[in-house]
Amino acid sequence: VIPILDFGSQYVQLIARRVRDAGVYSMLLGPQVTVEQLKKLNPTGIILSGGPSSVYDENAPKPDPRLFELCVPVLGICYGMQVGCELLGAEVKNAASREYGRAELRVNEKSDLFKGVPDHTSVWMSHGDQVNTLPDEFVATATTPTCPFAAVRHKDKPFYGVQFHPEVTHTPHGGDILSNFLFSACGCRGDWTMADFMESESKRIKELVGDDHVILGLSGGVDSSVVAAMLAKSIGKQLTCIFVDNGLLRKGERDLVEQTFRGHFDLDLRVIDAEKQFLDDLAGIEDPQEKRTRIGHRFIDVFKDTAAQIKAEFEDQNTQIKYLAQGTLYPDVIESGHGYAGTAANIKLHHNVGGLPEQLGFDLIEPLRSLFKDEVRALGTVLGLPENMVWRHPFPGPGLAVRVLGEVTKPQLDLVREADEILLEEIVSNGLYRKTAQVFAVLLPVKAVGVMGDGRTHEQVVAIRAVESQDFMTADWARIPFDVLATISNRIINEVRGVNRVCYDISSKPPATIEWE
Ligand code: XMP
Repeated sequence: VIPILDFGSQYVQLIARRVRDAGVYSMLLGPQVTVEQLKKLNPTGIILSGGPSSVYDENAPKPDPRLFELCVPVLGICYGMQVGCELLGAEVKNAASREYGRAELRVNEKSDLFKGVPDHTSVWMSHGDQVNTLPDEFVATATTPTCPFAAVRHKDKPFYGVQFHPEVTHTPHGGDILSNFLFSACGCRGDWTMADFMESESKRIKELVGDDHVILGLSGGVDSSVVAAMLAKSIGKQLTCIFVDNGLLRKGERDLVEQTFRGHFDLDLRVIDAEKQFLDDLAGIEDPQEKRTRIGHRFIDVFKDTAAQIKAEFEDQNTQIKYLAQGTLYPDVIESGHGYAGTAANIKLHHNVGGLPEQLGFDLIEPLRSLFKDEVRALGTVLGLPENMVWRHPFPGPGLAVRVLGEVTKPQLDLVREADEILLEEIVSNGLYRKTAQVFAVLLPVKAVGVMGDGRTHEQVVAIRAVESQDFMTADWARIPFDVLATISNRIINEVRGVNRVCYDISSKPPATIEWE
């Protein structure tokens, strides 16, 4: 494993990605991790990430000063190079001329990190500080016109530093430089796979949980489904999954979850029918945020009651439900401002059940915390989840309540469910599901005039939303072929009673959002 100490770099996820893509498992750790903790991981090498601080700032994050006692190769990138060099006696200062963007690198020493890299190559720089004086134990292995120590190595200790960012695509030979570190300096084998991750993570969870019990809120989405499959494998009957049917689900959702988890995994699944409570809470409510708040509160109540019920069933009343498992992914960790270095900005404000763990008083198990979405899908496949589960589009926690605009009632939910099912059938059968990030129907709270047969109709309007997106922070409307849109419109108007018009949403995010509420 290659631990990456995260000093708050915006590129730290990319470093982790590059290392894993090379077949070496990497994990992100806070900068305060101790040498003893690192030793337990048995690292083959360590990477120190970049970060926004200056090493001479009072509260600048620093690695354990005994880092080099581990005697494993260390690669410092940008700020990581500066802290590493400082630990080994160099001086870091604000640079006379800062470098942001592309810079021309001249390689002085074509061994170690620069094996196979041309003498002159461009690199991506982003720094205001730089190493100013370098003790004799160091060699400057590369320079740029304004940075005499653009890359260094220590003569006696296995430390390498690069002031530039090898992890970004703007550094064309960055991949070679990282590979040289992993394979030549650290001697990694490059044979890590998702199956290895599954094995080691299962083992870790089993040891952590011991004889205690774990509950998991299963939503039917990819993340919680993968966590369920993972825990089913590692702790079996010590896991209980709670699936809340809140009446705001898509058509067939509950059946799919039951079939998958009862059929393939034989786990303890509790399906809680809470439609009435949720719909009662939503009666007369039109404001989207108020809908979310009410749904969130009700969810917590249902979850709490179910947990109490499960506990009451234990034969041994000393058994505790100690843990709550969650499908938190690495980007969620960063977006919610809980990045390891605590420096990433708080971007994502809405979450389906914000505050749930704190209010319930469980410890958290988050097996996907270090993974990216596509890695979670790969893990789901390794765990044997069916393809239609692994490749699902995301579905919001408040469900169809934010897709029935205005007041949410059962007839309106049924109507949007029907339209949504037709839409998805057509998207799938036309091979568009994997090409789109999210596709859904929205029921508008307006009536339009139409004509059916010889009669005038006055019925509702369904809007179709289909977007392409990488991270859901920005999105563009999908260019669904007109003939597919024509079939969708035709089928919805013919098959769904109460709808006489279908519109296609051609707004991008920003300025629109993906959901309509
Ligand atoms: P927006 O509408 O903000 O959506 O562009 C971005 C992504 O987040 C999902 N979304 C939610 N997910 N609870 C959730 O769990 C919510 O309240 C919520 N609102 C939006 C949305 O489906 C899209 O994938």
